[in-house]
Amino acid sequence: MRAYRGHLIHIAGAPRLAQAHEHLVSEPDGVLVVDESGFIVYSGDHAQLPADLAHAQVVDTRPAFLLPGFIDTHIHFPQTHCTDSYGGGQLLNWLQQCIFPAEAGLADPQYARQVARDFCARRVDVGTTTALVFGSAFPDAQDALFEESLRVGLRTVSGRGIQTVGPDSAARLLTDEQTAITLTQHEIERWHAADTGDPATALVHTAIVPRFALSVTASTLHALGELYDSVRSDGVYFHSHLSENTSEIASVHSSYGVEHYLDTYDGPYSLLGRRSVLAHAVHCTDYELSRMADTGTSIAHCPTSQLFLGSGTMPWGRTTAAGVNVALGSDIAAGDEWLLPRVLNDCFKVHISEPAALSVPPADLLFTATLAGARALDIEDRVGNLDVGKEADFVVVDPQHQPLLPEILAQVDTHDADRLLFTLLMGMRESAVTQVYVRGRRLTAAR
Ligand code: GUN
Ligand code: ZN
Repeated sequence: MRAYRGHLIHIAGAPRLAQAHEHLVSEPDGVLVVDESGFIVYSGDHAQLPADLAHAQVVDTRPAFLLPGFIDTHIHFPQTHCTDSYGGGQLLNWLQQCIFPAEAGLADPQYARQVARDFCARRVDVGTTTALVFGSAFPDAQDALFEESLRVGLRTVSGRGIQTVGPDSAARLLTDEQTAITLTQHEIERWHAADTGDPATALVHTAIVPRFALSVTASTLHALGELYDSVRSDGVYFHSHLSENTSEIASVHSSYGVEHYLDTYDGPYSLLGRRSVLAHAVHCTDYELSRMADTGTSIAHCPTSQLFLGSGTMPWGRTTAAGVNVALGSDIAAGDEWLLPRVLNDCFKVHISEPAALSVPPADLLFTATLAGARALDIEDRVGNLDVGKEADFVVVDPQHQPLLPEILAQVDTHDADRLLFTLLMGMRESAVTQVYVRGRRLTAAR
Protein backbone atom coordinates (compact mmCIF):
# COMPACT_ATOMS: atom_id res chain seq x y z
CA MET A 1 0.00 0.00 0.00
CA ARG A 2 1.37 3.45 -0.97
CA ALA A 3 0.29 6.94 0.08
CA TYR A 4 1.11 9.65 -2.45
CA ARG A 5 1.17 13.07 -0.84
CA GLY A 6 0.59 16.13 -2.99
CA HIS A 7 -2.01 18.65 -4.14
CA LEU A 8 -4.90 16.57 -5.55
CA ILE A 9 -6.99 18.06 -8.36
CA HIS A 10 -9.75 16.17 -10.18
CA ILE A 11 -13.42 16.17 -11.17
CA ALA A 12 -15.05 13.85 -8.63
CA GLY A 13 -18.17 11.75 -9.14
CA ALA A 14 -19.85 11.41 -12.51
CA PRO A 15 -21.13 14.86 -13.48
CA ARG A 16 -22.09 16.02 -16.92
CA LEU A 17 -20.03 18.88 -18.33
CA ALA A 18 -22.44 21.52 -17.03
CA GLN A 19 -21.84 20.32 -13.45
CA ALA A 20 -18.07 19.83 -13.74
CA HIS A 21 -17.35 22.98 -11.75
CA GLU A 22 -19.42 21.81 -8.78
CA HIS A 23 -17.45 18.56 -8.80
CA LEU A 24 -13.99 20.13 -8.94
CA VAL A 25 -11.90 18.89 -6.04
CA SER A 26 -8.73 20.74 -5.05
CA GLU A 27 -7.02 19.36 -1.95
CA PRO A 28 -3.77 21.25 -1.32
CA ASP A 29 -2.59 18.97 1.49
CA GLY A 30 -3.91 15.83 -0.14
CA VAL A 31 -3.06 12.18 -0.21
CA LEU A 32 -3.94 9.35 -2.58
CA VAL A 33 -3.68 5.88 -1.07
CA VAL A 34 -3.32 3.02 -3.56
CA ASP A 35 -3.59 -0.65 -2.58
CA GLU A 36 -1.49 -3.57 -3.82
CA SER A 37 -3.92 -4.22 -6.67
CA GLY A 38 -3.61 -0.65 -7.92
CA PHE A 39 -7.00 0.59 -6.69
CA ILE A 40 -7.59 3.90 -4.91
CA VAL A 41 -8.59 3.28 -1.29
CA TYR A 42 -8.38 6.86 -0.03
CA SER A 43 -8.38 10.22 -1.80
CA GLY A 44 -8.54 13.52 0.04
CA ASP A 45 -7.29 15.63 2.90
CA HIS A 46 -4.18 14.21 4.54
CA ALA A 47 -5.44 15.30 7.96
CA GLN A 48 -8.49 13.04 7.56
CA LEU A 49 -6.55 9.91 6.57
CA PRO A 50 -8.12 6.97 8.43
CA ALA A 51 -5.86 5.41 11.07
CA ASP A 52 -5.95 1.98 9.42
CA LEU A 53 -4.24 3.46 6.33
CA ALA A 54 -1.57 5.35 8.25
CA HIS A 55 0.92 2.50 7.81
CA ALA A 56 0.99 2.94 4.00
CA GLN A 57 4.41 3.70 2.62
CA VAL A 58 4.59 7.43 1.90
CA VAL A 59 5.68 8.79 -1.47
CA ASP A 60 5.96 12.51 -0.86
CA THR A 61 5.58 14.41 -4.15
CA ARG A 62 5.03 17.82 -2.56
CA PRO A 63 4.96 20.53 -3.85
CA ALA A 64 3.68 18.59 -6.85
CA PHE A 65 0.11 18.16 -8.07
CA LEU A 66 -1.61 14.81 -8.55
CA LEU A 67 -3.99 14.79 -11.51
CA PRO A 68 -5.92 11.93 -13.16
CA GLY A 69 -4.03 10.39 -16.09
CA PHE A 70 -4.84 12.16 -19.34
CA ILE A 71 -7.15 10.39 -21.81
CA ASP A 72 -6.45 11.01 -25.48
CA THR A 73 -9.47 9.90 -27.50
CA HIS A 74 -7.93 10.42 -30.93
CA ILE A 75 -4.29 9.82 -31.82
CA HIS A 76 -2.71 8.16 -34.87
CA PHE A 77 -0.05 5.55 -34.08
CA PRO A 78 1.37 5.32 -37.64
CA GLN A 79 1.82 9.12 -37.65
CA THR A 80 4.20 9.15 -34.66
CA HIS A 81 7.00 10.50 -36.85
CA CYS A 82 4.81 12.83 -38.95
CA THR A 83 4.09 15.94 -36.88
CA ASP A 84 4.57 19.24 -38.70
CA SER A 85 4.57 17.73 -42.18
CA TYR A 86 4.02 20.29 -44.93
CA GLY A 87 1.33 19.15 -47.35
CA GLY A 88 0.79 22.43 -49.16
CA GLY A 89 -2.89 22.51 -48.29
CA GLN A 90 -5.65 21.35 -45.98
CA LEU A 91 -6.77 17.84 -44.98
CA LEU A 92 -7.02 16.03 -48.32
CA ASN A 93 -3.76 17.50 -49.68
CA TRP A 94 -1.91 16.73 -46.46
CA LEU A 95 -3.18 13.14 -46.42
CA GLN A 96 -2.13 12.55 -50.00
CA GLN A 97 1.18 14.41 -49.95
CA CYS A 98 2.46 13.41 -46.51
CA ILE A 99 0.42 10.91 -44.55
CA PHE A 100 -0.52 8.06 -46.88
CA PRO A 101 3.10 7.66 -48.08
CA ALA A 102 4.47 7.85 -44.52
CA GLU A 103 1.97 5.33 -43.13
CA ALA A 104 3.00 2.88 -45.87
CA GLY A 105 6.42 2.75 -44.20
CA LEU A 106 4.93 0.65 -41.39
CA ALA A 107 4.70 -2.28 -43.81
CA ASP A 108 8.27 -2.91 -42.63
CA PRO A 109 7.79 -4.77 -39.32
CA GLN A 110 11.13 -3.62 -37.93
CA TYR A 111 10.33 0.03 -38.55
CA ALA A 112 6.81 -0.56 -37.16
CA ARG A 113 8.30 -1.91 -33.91
CA GLN A 114 10.43 1.21 -33.59
CA VAL A 115 7.38 3.40 -34.16
CA ALA A 116 5.46 1.42 -31.51
CA ARG A 117 8.27 1.97 -29.00
CA ASP A 118 8.42 5.69 -29.80
CA PHE A 119 4.63 6.01 -29.64
CA CYS A 120 4.32 4.37 -26.23
CA ALA A 121 7.33 6.22 -24.84
CA ARG A 122 5.89 9.58 -25.92
CA ARG A 123 2.61 8.71 -24.22
CA VAL A 124 4.42 8.04 -20.98
CA ASP A 125 6.42 11.29 -21.34
CA VAL A 126 3.19 13.29 -21.48
CA GLY A 127 1.05 11.32 -19.04
CA THR A 128 -1.45 9.95 -21.57
CA THR A 129 -2.36 6.87 -19.56
CA THR A 130 -5.33 5.91 -21.78
CA ALA A 131 -5.70 6.40 -25.52
CA LEU A 132 -8.05 5.52 -28.35
CA VAL A 133 -5.48 4.87 -31.03
CA PHE A 134 -6.08 5.05 -34.75
CA GLY A 135 -4.11 2.08 -35.99
CA SER A 136 -1.89 1.10 -38.87
CA ALA A 137 -3.17 -0.78 -41.91
CA PHE A 138 -0.59 -3.50 -41.25
CA PRO A 139 -1.34 -6.34 -38.82
CA ASP A 140 2.34 -6.73 -37.80
CA ALA A 141 2.43 -3.06 -36.86
CA GLN A 142 -0.73 -3.46 -34.79
CA ASP A 143 0.80 -6.48 -33.04
CA ALA A 144 3.83 -4.33 -32.21
CA LEU A 145 1.58 -1.59 -30.82
CA PHE A 146 -0.41 -3.91 -28.54
CA GLU A 147 2.71 -5.78 -27.39
CA GLU A 148 4.56 -2.58 -26.54
CA SER A 149 1.53 -1.03 -24.86
CA LEU A 150 1.22 -4.08 -22.59
CA ARG A 151 4.97 -4.17 -21.92
CA VAL A 152 4.91 -0.51 -20.85
CA GLY A 153 1.61 -0.85 -18.99
CA LEU A 154 -0.54 1.68 -20.85
CA ARG A 155 -4.28 1.48 -21.53
CA THR A 156 -4.88 1.26 -25.26
CA VAL A 157 -7.93 0.84 -27.46
CA SER A 158 -6.97 0.41 -31.10
CA GLY A 159 -7.89 -1.10 -34.43
CA ARG A 160 -6.19 -1.31 -37.80
CA GLY A 161 -7.00 1.59 -40.12
CA ILE A 162 -9.33 0.25 -42.80
CA GLN A 163 -9.07 1.57 -46.36
CA THR A 164 -10.56 -0.12 -49.39
CA VAL A 165 -10.56 2.83 -51.81
CA GLY A 166 -8.36 5.87 -52.24
CA PRO A 167 -5.96 7.83 -54.43
CA ASP A 168 -2.71 6.38 -55.82
CA SER A 169 -0.73 7.67 -52.86
CA ALA A 170 -2.82 5.41 -50.58
CA ALA A 171 -2.39 2.30 -52.76
CA ARG A 172 -0.16 0.44 -50.29
CA LEU A 173 -2.69 0.96 -47.48
CA LEU A 174 -5.64 -0.54 -49.38
CA THR A 175 -7.09 -4.04 -49.24
CA ASP A 176 -10.20 -5.45 -50.80
CA GLU A 177 -13.32 -5.49 -48.68
CA GLN A 178 -13.20 -9.15 -47.69
CA THR A 179 -9.57 -8.87 -46.59
CA ALA A 180 -10.42 -5.78 -44.57
CA ILE A 181 -13.18 -7.62 -42.73
CA THR A 182 -11.04 -10.72 -42.15
CA LEU A 183 -8.04 -8.76 -40.84
CA THR A 184 -10.27 -6.76 -38.52
CA GLN A 185 -11.94 -9.92 -37.22
CA HIS A 186 -8.53 -11.52 -36.60
CA GLU A 187 -7.30 -8.46 -34.74
CA ILE A 188 -10.36 -8.53 -32.48
CA GLU A 189 -9.91 -12.25 -31.79
CA ARG A 190 -6.22 -11.82 -31.05
CA TRP A 191 -6.12 -8.59 -29.06
CA HIS A 192 -9.48 -7.73 -27.52
CA ALA A 193 -8.92 -7.98 -23.76
CA ALA A 194 -5.87 -10.12 -24.57
CA ASP A 195 -4.12 -9.39 -21.27
CA THR A 196 -6.81 -10.63 -18.87
CA GLY A 197 -9.40 -12.28 -21.10
CA ASP A 198 -12.06 -10.03 -19.59
CA PRO A 199 -12.93 -6.63 -21.13
CA ALA A 200 -13.91 -5.37 -17.66
CA THR A 201 -10.36 -5.77 -16.33
CA ALA A 202 -8.19 -5.59 -19.46
CA LEU A 203 -5.78 -2.80 -20.41
CA VAL A 204 -6.04 -3.45 -24.15
CA HIS A 205 -9.17 -3.42 -26.27
CA THR A 206 -9.88 -3.39 -29.98
CA ALA A 207 -11.90 -1.17 -32.28
CA ILE A 208 -13.32 -1.21 -35.79
CA VAL A 209 -11.64 1.73 -37.51
CA PRO A 210 -12.51 2.71 -41.08
CA ARG A 211 -10.27 5.70 -41.79
CA PHE A 212 -13.23 7.87 -42.85
CA ALA A 213 -16.19 7.50 -45.15
CA LEU A 214 -14.03 8.46 -48.16
CA SER A 215 -11.56 5.61 -47.60
CA VAL A 216 -14.22 2.90 -47.83
CA THR A 217 -17.50 2.28 -49.68
CA ALA A 218 -21.11 1.99 -48.59
CA SER A 219 -20.77 -1.76 -49.05
CA THR A 220 -17.71 -1.92 -46.74
CA LEU A 221 -19.42 0.21 -44.10
CA HIS A 222 -22.43 -2.09 -44.29
CA ALA A 223 -20.22 -5.15 -43.79
CA LEU A 224 -18.39 -3.45 -40.91
CA GLY A 225 -21.77 -2.64 -39.37
CA GLU A 226 -22.66 -6.32 -39.47
CA LEU A 227 -19.33 -7.23 -37.93
CA TYR A 228 -19.80 -4.59 -35.23
CA ASP A 229 -23.24 -5.93 -34.47
CA SER A 230 -21.68 -9.33 -33.72
CA VAL A 231 -18.95 -8.00 -31.38
CA ARG A 232 -20.59 -4.95 -29.82
CA SER A 233 -21.65 -6.83 -26.70
CA ASP A 234 -18.03 -7.88 -26.10
CA GLY A 235 -17.09 -4.23 -25.61
CA VAL A 236 -15.43 -3.67 -28.99
CA TYR A 237 -15.24 0.00 -30.07
CA PHE A 238 -15.98 1.93 -33.24
CA HIS A 239 -13.77 4.86 -34.21
CA SER A 240 -13.50 7.10 -37.27
CA HIS A 241 -13.44 10.73 -38.45
CA LEU A 242 -16.53 12.91 -39.02
CA SER A 243 -17.08 16.29 -40.71
CA GLU A 244 -13.60 17.67 -40.27
CA ASN A 245 -13.12 19.67 -43.46
CA THR A 246 -15.52 21.28 -45.90
CA SER A 247 -13.99 19.67 -49.03
CA GLU A 248 -14.10 16.27 -47.32
CA ILE A 249 -17.77 16.78 -46.45
CA ALA A 250 -18.65 17.80 -50.03
CA SER A 251 -16.95 14.64 -51.33
CA VAL A 252 -18.83 12.46 -48.83
CA HIS A 253 -22.14 13.99 -49.89
CA SER A 254 -21.42 13.41 -53.56
CA SER A 255 -19.95 9.89 -53.18
CA TYR A 256 -22.65 8.57 -50.85
CA GLY A 257 -25.64 10.71 -51.80
CA VAL A 258 -26.47 11.13 -48.11
CA GLU A 259 -28.08 14.15 -46.50
CA HIS A 260 -25.78 13.98 -43.48
CA TYR A 261 -22.18 12.74 -43.27
CA LEU A 262 -23.11 10.86 -40.08
CA ASP A 263 -25.60 8.74 -42.07
CA THR A 264 -22.67 6.89 -43.66
CA TYR A 265 -21.88 5.34 -40.26
CA ASP A 266 -25.52 4.91 -39.29
CA GLY A 267 -26.83 2.26 -41.67
CA PRO A 268 -29.18 -0.63 -40.87
CA TYR A 269 -26.40 -2.03 -38.68
CA SER A 270 -25.41 1.25 -37.07
CA LEU A 271 -21.82 1.85 -36.01
CA LEU A 272 -22.94 4.44 -33.44
CA GLY A 273 -23.26 3.79 -29.71
CA ARG A 274 -21.73 4.28 -26.29
CA ARG A 275 -18.34 2.91 -27.33
CA SER A 276 -18.27 4.86 -30.61
CA VAL A 277 -16.04 7.92 -30.89
CA LEU A 278 -15.94 10.25 -33.89
CA ALA A 279 -13.06 12.67 -34.28
CA HIS A 280 -13.57 16.37 -35.10
CA ALA A 281 -17.30 16.93 -35.81
CA VAL A 282 -16.43 20.53 -36.72
CA HIS A 283 -19.23 21.18 -39.22
CA CYS A 284 -22.13 19.08 -37.91
CA THR A 285 -25.81 19.71 -38.45
CA ASP A 286 -28.22 19.84 -35.51
CA TYR A 287 -29.55 16.46 -36.58
CA GLU A 288 -26.07 14.92 -36.43
CA LEU A 289 -25.41 16.32 -32.97
CA SER A 290 -28.72 15.09 -31.59
CA ARG A 291 -28.27 11.65 -33.20
CA MET A 292 -24.83 11.33 -31.57
CA ALA A 293 -26.29 12.42 -28.22
CA ASP A 294 -29.20 9.97 -28.52
CA THR A 295 -26.96 7.03 -29.37
CA GLY A 296 -24.33 7.83 -26.71
CA THR A 297 -21.69 8.41 -29.40
CA SER A 298 -18.88 10.74 -28.29
CA ILE A 299 -16.86 13.38 -30.13
CA ALA A 300 -13.08 13.57 -29.90
CA HIS A 301 -12.44 17.31 -30.05
CA CYS A 302 -9.05 18.07 -31.62
CA PRO A 303 -8.49 21.85 -31.62
CA THR A 304 -4.72 21.71 -32.20
CA SER A 305 -5.23 19.63 -35.33
CA GLN A 306 -8.06 21.88 -36.52
CA LEU A 307 -5.73 24.86 -36.29
CA PHE A 308 -2.92 23.07 -38.13
CA LEU A 309 -5.12 21.95 -41.04
CA GLY A 310 -7.33 25.05 -41.09
CA SER A 311 -10.35 22.81 -40.58
CA GLY A 312 -12.40 25.38 -38.68
CA THR A 313 -13.53 25.40 -35.07
CA MET A 314 -15.94 22.92 -33.52
CA PRO A 315 -18.64 25.22 -32.08
CA TRP A 316 -18.17 24.45 -28.38
CA GLY A 317 -21.40 25.91 -26.99
CA ARG A 318 -23.70 24.46 -29.64
CA THR A 319 -22.03 21.04 -29.60
CA THR A 320 -22.00 20.58 -25.84
CA ALA A 321 -25.51 22.03 -25.48
CA ALA A 322 -26.76 19.28 -27.82
CA GLY A 323 -25.92 16.82 -25.05
CA VAL A 324 -23.20 14.92 -26.88
CA ASN A 325 -20.18 13.92 -24.79
CA VAL A 326 -17.12 15.87 -25.94
CA ALA A 327 -13.71 14.41 -25.05
CA LEU A 328 -10.26 15.53 -26.16
CA GLY A 329 -7.89 14.29 -28.87
CA SER A 330 -4.38 15.31 -29.82
CA ASP A 331 -4.91 13.94 -33.35
CA ILE A 332 -1.18 13.38 -33.69
CA ALA A 333 0.07 14.09 -36.37
CA ALA A 334 -2.30 16.75 -37.71
CA GLY A 335 -2.16 17.95 -34.14
CA ASP A 336 1.47 18.58 -33.21
CA GLU A 337 1.11 18.49 -29.41
CA TRP A 338 1.30 15.21 -27.50
CA LEU A 339 0.70 16.78 -24.09
CA LEU A 340 -3.08 17.08 -23.61
CA PRO A 341 -2.83 20.24 -21.49
CA ARG A 342 -1.21 21.88 -24.55
CA VAL A 343 -4.26 20.74 -26.56
CA LEU A 344 -6.46 22.25 -23.83
CA ASN A 345 -4.48 25.46 -24.23
CA ASP A 346 -5.50 25.57 -27.90
CA CYS A 347 -9.04 24.58 -26.91
CA PHE A 348 -9.29 27.61 -24.65
CA LYS A 349 -7.83 29.95 -27.25
CA VAL A 350 -10.00 28.83 -30.18
CA HIS A 351 -13.24 29.05 -28.22
CA ILE A 352 -12.54 32.47 -26.75
CA SER A 353 -11.88 33.52 -30.35
CA GLU A 354 -15.28 32.25 -31.55
CA PRO A 355 -17.94 34.94 -32.14
CA ALA A 356 -19.50 33.88 -28.82
CA ALA A 357 -16.14 34.68 -27.09
CA LEU A 358 -16.62 31.72 -24.80
CA SER A 359 -14.14 31.45 -21.92
CA VAL A 360 -14.18 27.69 -21.25
CA PRO A 361 -14.08 27.26 -17.45
CA PRO A 362 -11.02 25.51 -15.97
CA ALA A 363 -13.07 22.63 -14.53
CA ASP A 364 -14.57 22.03 -17.99
CA LEU A 365 -11.09 21.88 -19.50
CA LEU A 366 -9.92 19.27 -16.96
CA PHE A 367 -13.18 17.34 -17.37
CA THR A 368 -12.69 17.17 -21.15
CA ALA A 369 -9.13 15.74 -20.88
CA THR A 370 -10.01 13.18 -18.20
CA LEU A 371 -13.55 12.17 -17.18
CA ALA A 372 -15.15 12.87 -20.57
CA GLY A 373 -12.51 10.61 -22.14
CA ALA A 374 -13.31 7.82 -19.70
CA ARG A 375 -17.00 8.27 -20.53
CA ALA A 376 -16.28 8.20 -24.28
CA LEU A 377 -14.51 4.87 -23.79
CA ASP A 378 -17.17 3.55 -21.42
CA ILE A 379 -14.60 2.99 -18.66
CA GLU A 380 -15.80 5.70 -16.31
CA ASP A 381 -16.29 3.09 -13.59
CA ARG A 382 -12.54 2.33 -13.78
CA VAL A 383 -10.66 5.60 -14.45
CA GLY A 384 -11.11 9.31 -15.21
CA ASN A 385 -10.76 10.77 -11.74
CA LEU A 386 -9.24 10.07 -8.33
CA ASP A 387 -12.34 8.68 -6.64
CA VAL A 388 -12.05 5.81 -4.16
CA GLY A 389 -12.67 2.47 -5.88
CA LYS A 390 -11.16 3.47 -9.21
CA GLU A 391 -7.97 2.11 -10.69
CA ALA A 392 -5.11 4.46 -9.83
CA ASP A 393 -4.19 6.17 -13.11
CA PHE A 394 -2.54 9.47 -12.23
CA VAL A 395 0.22 11.87 -13.13
CA VAL A 396 2.54 13.80 -10.84
CA VAL A 397 3.03 17.35 -12.08
CA ASP A 398 5.95 19.01 -10.35
CA PRO A 399 6.23 22.72 -11.15
CA GLN A 400 9.84 22.75 -9.96
CA HIS A 401 10.81 20.94 -13.16
CA GLN A 402 9.66 23.79 -15.38
CA PRO A 403 11.29 27.20 -15.56
CA LEU A 404 9.14 29.93 -13.95
CA LEU A 405 6.15 27.66 -13.30
CA PRO A 406 6.58 27.85 -9.49
CA GLU A 407 6.78 31.65 -9.69
CA ILE A 408 3.76 31.84 -12.00
CA LEU A 409 1.68 29.59 -9.72
CA ALA A 410 2.81 31.59 -6.68
CA GLN A 411 0.82 34.53 -8.10
CA VAL A 412 -2.37 32.51 -7.57
CA ASP A 413 -4.00 31.83 -4.20
CA THR A 414 -3.55 28.07 -3.59
CA HIS A 415 -7.13 27.90 -2.33
CA ASP A 416 -8.58 29.53 -5.47
CA ALA A 417 -9.12 26.21 -7.24
CA ASP A 418 -10.38 27.67 -10.53
CA ARG A 419 -7.53 30.07 -11.09
CA LEU A 420 -4.91 27.63 -9.90
CA LEU A 421 -6.18 24.87 -12.19
CA PHE A 422 -6.42 27.27 -15.13
CA THR A 423 -2.84 28.48 -14.78
CA LEU A 424 -1.56 24.95 -14.21
CA LEU A 425 -3.34 23.43 -17.23
CA MET A 426 -2.61 26.32 -19.57
CA GLY A 427 0.97 26.81 -18.44
CA MET A 428 2.36 23.34 -17.80
CA ARG A 429 4.81 21.74 -20.19
CA GLU A 430 6.03 18.20 -20.51
CA SER A 431 9.05 18.71 -18.25
CA ALA A 432 6.69 19.11 -15.29
CA VAL A 433 5.25 15.58 -15.78
CA THR A 434 7.62 13.69 -13.48
CA GLN A 435 5.78 10.44 -12.68
CA VAL A 436 3.03 8.52 -14.47
CA TYR A 437 0.99 5.64 -13.03
CA VAL A 438 -1.50 3.18 -14.51
CA ARG A 439 -3.40 0.98 -12.07
CA GLY A 440 -0.87 1.91 -9.41
CA ARG A 441 2.14 0.85 -11.45
CA ARG A 442 4.74 3.50 -12.22
CA LEU A 443 5.44 3.60 -15.94
CA THR A 444 8.80 4.01 -17.54
CA ALA A 445 9.53 3.37 -21.19
CA ALA A 446 12.75 2.99 -23.10
CA ARG A 447 12.77 3.94 -26.76
N1 GUN B 1 -9.27 11.99 -42.02
C1 GUN B 1 -8.92 10.81 -42.60
N2 GUN B 1 -7.68 10.45 -42.22
C2 GUN B 1 -7.24 11.40 -41.40
C3 GUN B 1 -6.02 11.58 -40.68
O1 GUN B 1 -5.10 10.78 -40.73
N3 GUN B 1 -5.94 12.70 -39.91
C4 GUN B 1 -6.95 13.60 -39.82
N4 GUN B 1 -6.79 14.68 -39.06
N5 GUN B 1 -8.09 13.46 -40.51
C5 GUN B 1 -8.23 12.38 -41.28
ZN1 ZN C 1 -7.33 11.95 -37.01
